[in-house]
Amino acid sequence: MFMEKDFFWGGAVSAAQCEGNYLADGRGASNFDQLPLNDQRLKPVFKNKTKSILTEETETIYPGRIGIDFYHTYKEDIKLLSELGINSFRFSISWSRIFPKGNEKEPNQAGLAYYDALLSELERYQIEPIVTLSHFEIPMYLVEVYNGWAAKEVIEYYVHYTKTVMAYFDGRIKYWIPFNEMNMVLHIPFIGGGIQFEEGQDNLSLQYQAGHHQLLANALTIQIGKQINGNNQFGAMLAAGKTYAYTCRPSDVFAALKHEQENLMFSDVQVFGSYPAHTNHFFKKHGIKLDVTELDQKVLRENTVDFVSFSYYSSACTAAETEGKETVAANGFITLRNPHLPESKSVWQNDPIGLRITLNQLFERYHKPLFIVENGIGTQDVFNKETIDDPYRIDYLNEHIKNMILAVREDGVELMGYLMWGIIDLPSVSEGRISKRYGVVYVDQDDNGHGSGKRYKKESYHFYKKVIETKGAAVFEELPDSTKDIRKRSD
Ligand code: BG6
Repeated sequence: MFMEKDFFWGGAVSAAQCEGNYLADGRGASNFDQLPLNDQRLKPVFKNKTKSILTEETETIYPGRIGIDFYHTYKEDIKLLSELGINSFRFSISWSRIFPKGNEKEPNQAGLAYYDALLSELERYQIEPIVTLSHFEIPMYLVEVYNGWAAKEVIEYYVHYTKTVMAYFDGRIKYWIPFNEMNMVLHIPFIGGGIQFEEGQDNLSLQYQAGHHQLLANALTIQIGKQINGNNQFGAMLAAGKTYAYTCRPSDVFAALKHEQENLMFSDVQVFGSYPAHTNHFFKKHGIKLDVTELDQKVLRENTVDFVSFSYYSSACTAAETEGKETVAANGFITLRNPHLPESKSVWQNDPIGLRITLNQLFERYHKPLFIVENGIGTQDVFNKETIDDPYRIDYLNEHIKNMILAVREDGVELMGYLMWGIIDLPSVSEGRISKRYGVVYVDQDDNGHGSGKRYKKESYHFYKKVIETKGAAVFEELPDSTKDIRKRSD
């Protein structure tokens, strides 16, 4: 039998991307709500700029404020997902729904009541909640007053929030992910850390300092969470993906190694409890002086994670000399185009074997159970009389899940589960558009938030259902004919 016993098959979403209703029932605004539907979304934000994403514009669409109305539709959405057979669902709690400004003493009861109701719905269908406590979200008040995670004070506010939530939902949530993709604070600092820069400032120091504060907040949350309930399990969460060397030239291999060291630094600290030697050296070389106390070091050392969760969309590729080489967008950064990967229907290059390599790499490095908490293909779908034929998504799921199973069965990787990202369509982080769709459930909504909002099952819904029913065995069967022309692989 395949992927037996307690393997989690499920899907994932984030509050910022799906709930909408951003000021409803006392919720406060968050950094994510400020991201406009334009190419400024991912850019660093500078203080005191008249033209900044923080300048409110009435004409602009802010997709985070709209989401897919999950705040109201969660009951029907979870029912639809339960029919798919999932046994786990990752969602995030919006910090500013619980503490609207971030620094209050008492939580917003309406916010707690919302997640209470959401959890009850999951319990009704016996779906295990996997909960992210901060998925690219921090209350705007803390961004404006403290410059987000750049300030040490924010740790205390965050820990008050996480403690409140863990105590309130004690016994109903076992798997916690304190931060989504912590390594993103280095790539998209406003989204990952609510940080704004000043002209002439040392941006890199600020980003690493913010990262250090998040690492401490993560460790303190683990410490308190274990005191609240010894069964609580905590996961690191990184945007993963093996970095290949563009050639086997030693200097290219070395460049790839350095890229990985940087990318894995946050999870290294979360698993091993201290900064790697190469990072300390990097800090010295670049004049980065972090405020790290002995107490900080003790807290990090004593409160490490139980599992390593990660997102995987594609691999990366780099070289000692990148100039003149074709580049391509990946999740939160630009990478060299890998000439050995076939064309795909998504902007990001697809690399299913890369998932198997990544699983092996992370397991070898960390010796901790792994958990794929995001994987999927974001691309345009054609809505055709209530059906959506998406063979490219079926192919993507098929190949990635196949490689995942091989990593477990052939390579001995210990894996807790597979959660597909954006299991129900939601606006993309990088583009802000819902037309970059990930779901097996289609949402009738356009990039401006218009549409009936009705949900429809895509062809991939039926495929994923079969995969779950067969505990993964279906990915080794012949695929439907419609996927045939996509399966011309270069390897
Ligand atoms: C991950 C994030 O980085 O990638 C998600 O955790 C995000 O929030 C996902 O949606 C896909 O990226 P994008 O930019 O296509 O939405």
